[in-house]
Amino acid sequence: MNSSAAKFKHVSEYGIRQLVDAFYAKVRLDPELAPIFERAIPGDWQPHLTKMYAFWSSVMLTTGRYKGNPVVKHLVIPGIQPPLFERWLALFDETCRELFEDAVSEEFRSKAERIAESLKLALFYRPGRPWPPEQAP
Ligand code: HEM
Repeated sequence: MNSSAAKFKHVSEYGIRQLVDAFYAKVRLDPELAPIFERAIPGDWQPHLTKMYAFWSSVMLTTGRYKGNPVVKHLVIPGIQPPLFERWLALFDETCRELFEDAVSEEFRSKAERIAESLKLALFYRPGRPWPPEQAP
């Protein structure tokens, strides 16, 4: 987005759609993340994007629109590894900052970080192994 364009002051369904579309456009160009996503979503991306509008609507606007189980979905994604979450979060935060004013971006960032942490624990934590993991488990 043009940096001089007005940023959203509040979260709305419209703003969420802009965010999700812009974020996954970046993901699809990212050397680390693109191969994993393109393998998991080889065809039409719109169903994934529509699900993600509902997910962020549930998280940020507590609409309850998302019905699903992200842990189960991520468990079966080939190539997903802990360090990739840093990249995911950096791109997500960058996109939020392009679209939303700082206070709103910060809210997205803190929610995304907490969800990422709980996803990583569910996917990679094993009792008796070091946490956080340095390397692939
Ligand atoms: C390295 C980090 C990540 C990778 C590589 C990744 C990859 C993916 C892929 C490939 C899908 C599509 C799965 C499918 O439809 O078969 C997906 C779905 C999804 N992702 Fe992620 N993801 C990551 C992190 C996150 C984070 C941090 C969040 C939340 C803050 C998140 C939330 C979701 C949700 C809600 C879905 C939809 C699940 C459903 O179908 O109900 N992901 N992810």
